[in-house]
Amino acid sequence: MESILSVISAKMRAAFAAAGYDPAYGRVTVSNRPDLCEYQCSGALAAAKQYHCAPMVVAGNVAAKLPPETFAMAEAVAPGFINLKLSGSFLQNYLEEMRTAEDFGVEKSGMGKTIVVDYGGANVAKPLHIGHLRPAIIGEALKRLYRFFGWNAIGDVHLGDWGLQMGLIIAELQLRQPELPYFDADFSGEYPAEPPFTLSELEEIYPTASARKKEDPAFAQRAHEATLALQRGERGCRAIWAHIMALSLPDLHRIYDKLDVHFEAWLGESDADPYIPAMIARLKDEGYAVESEGALVFPVAEETDKKEVPPCILVKSDGAAIYATTDLATMVQRMQDYAPDKILYVTDKRQALHFEQIFRAARKSGIVPTGTELEHLGHGTMNGKDGKPFKTRDGGVLRLEQLIGEMTDFVRAKVVENRIVEADKVEETTDQIALAALKYGDLSNLPTKDYNFDLERFAAFEGNTGPYILYTIVRVRSILAKYGAWEQLPIAEPCSIAAKDLMRSITGFAPALESALAASAPSQICAYIYELAGNVNKFYHETPILREDDEEKKAGHIALVGLAKRILEQCIAILGFTAPERM
Ligand code: ARG
Repeated sequence: MESILSVISAKMRAAFAAAGYDPAYGRVTVSNRPDLCEYQCSGALAAAKQYHCAPMVVAGNVAAKLPPETFAMAEAVAPGFINLKLSGSFLQNYLEEMRTAEDFGVEKSGMGKTIVVDYGGANVAKPLHIGHLRPAIIGEALKRLYRFFGWNAIGDVHLGDWGLQMGLIIAELQLRQPELPYFDADFSGEYPAEPPFTLSELEEIYPTASARKKEDPAFAQRAHEATLALQRGERGCRAIWAHIMALSLPDLHRIYDKLDVHFEAWLGESDADPYIPAMIARLKDEGYAVESEGALVFPVAEETDKKEVPPCILVKSDGAAIYATTDLATMVQRMQDYAPDKILYVTDKRQALHFEQIFRAARKSGIVPTGTELEHLGHGTMNGKDGKPFKTRDGGVLRLEQLIGEMTDFVRAKVVENRIVEADKVEETTDQIALAALKYGDLSNLPTKDYNFDLERFAAFEGNTGPYILYTIVRVRSILAKYGAWEQLPIAEPCSIAAKDLMRSITGFAPALESALAASAPSQICAYIYELAGNVNKFYHETPILREDDEEKKAGHIALVGLAKRILEQCIAILGFTAPERM
């Protein structure tokens, strides 16, 4: 469906033409004086200059040509604006078309296109921490938004499972248990099926090894060698790596499931490995990769650079592949497997330089052709309530699972205290509300900005929060349940200002989503549903919906709130949460 603004603009252009002026002046915008009108056009001011006459005359002539079936009011106001109010029947028809169209008539601009969304950023052998919250939920929302517009959207977690962190674990394990067969070069039997560590031991091994590396150069050297041995495919190292993966992956799945974040591809840096040799050989052959101080680098600096952009390191002097290497090889793999029209990376904005470098390398070398768009969405930091970096009491990094747990406990206490649902529904309802609080609290901020995590504020049932949106949906659901079959009821003309405001707010659905997509900003969807929910609640408070005696009027009210509810549900499904039955 065409957006309401473009429908009205077309009528305005036709009126300019009918009055003898250039139709290009007929641009309509949403009113910035909602007390006076709903939409406005200031084209007459500019047209007056071209036609050498008073702006009020132009505005008056144009207003007289506007069709009364579309506009209940079309008024020329000094110094030459055209103020507009839509007719009830026009809004009615527009909403009825939305109500009956598939996906509310949104233009499926992504049909036939493929996007890979690289988000989540999990590293194996390390528990997810609060830094992983934002890339997971922003990435998931954007992926769902693309999908809504018809894109074939593939989410890839791109696990950190290949670099030095693996070598550190292997070296630390060797220090602790040198007798294990993995470290015996002559061992040719089968390695044990059981891992030599538990998940919680593994989660302790990595930070210990990481600290040891800083103090003990010999250990650091052994860790580098282990990394290399793993990348060369040495049997014992691969076997330890497989144990790490087998322990880590189910745990990562478990936490992402809690967040209702799901990846189509669980590939990692290690999966890029097979593509590295051929890629390096080609980059060398074609002169993109050059030796520098023993390493192989890809210079990507450009004359116009304001700040220094160092070359991309492809192979370190010790022969190891690093982050940039696997990221470039992953592009090779993605182009080959999916031939995507776009690759979108969602990571911390502190990785901006890395992406600048690999994007340049990918473009220059043709690894990613010009027809494929590359975007890095660098998100800001989530800080504590006081605006300082989020830390546990002992100064450590808070685990993501603990953060989810704290939010869940807080919400559960409310659910129990307010006796919101029967005992057997407490957990499910709590999880839904807690997830909405967490996700909306994050997504309502511009992704690129930092924000402060405030559990109580995010979980509040009033204000600009996830639970408030859920509450609005639940309220409408209960009205609809009391009414009975409502799905087929047609939209009626607005019966009040509140009804009309709600209807106009509903027409903003597609434009809000389109603009959120263009800006990679789920925050715009949050802003949209906050406004929509406000208009639903205003309508609810001002209108005796179920107490209306006139059955036809009642059916109109029900059809309207039913449509609003469906739109709210659609939006939260894109944001990545759902509403409970009761609240
Ligand atoms: N694992 C990385 C990290 O923890 C994030 C991965 C992001 N994706 C990518 N293709 N580089 O920083």
